[in-house]
Amino acid sequence: MISLTVNGKKYQVDAAPDSKLLWVLREQLGLTGTKFGCGEGMCGACTVLVDGKARRSCVTPVSAVKGKKVVTIEGLPESHPLKLAWIAEQVPQCGYCQPGQIMQAAALLNEHPKPTESEIDSAMSGCLCRCGTYQRVKIAINRAAGKGKKP
Ligand code: FES
Ligand code: FES
Repeated sequence: MISLTVNGKKYQVDAAPDSKLLWVLREQLGLTGTKFGCGEGMCGACTVLVDGKARRSCVTPVSAVKGKKVVTIEGLPESHPLKLAWIAEQVPQCGYCQPGQIMQAAALLNEHPKPTESEIDSAMSGCLCRCGTYQRVKIAINRAAGKGKKP
């Protein structure tokens, strides 16, 4: 058994230490907001926070997050500035990549509450969107950071 803290709740999961966090979240904890894209750490669809930093859960063994705080898209309150900004700017198209985009943006704002344009570009460059929502993602991050439009 492995003890995990996800979205502020403690869980005991029966998983091999090298099981990937993504599948433990989705299949054992039913937290299906975190998406499977490439499975190789390249697209960002599976991004979650681990102790406030962005991690690709598809390549993170569950044993690596023992004793750490994991937050998934379900763990951000509906009133979170990023969620409000995403709605206000109508960011998603198909929506598939968006949980990962939001969690990557949350990690960025943890580190840089008022990010510059280049900090946004560099933080978000690994989150791919086949629908091409990049421009609106960026506008929404600025909005959530209180730059430009209000959240
Ligand atoms: S599914 Fe994890 S980075 Fe693509
Ligand atoms: S909104 Fe469709 S993949 Fe990003």
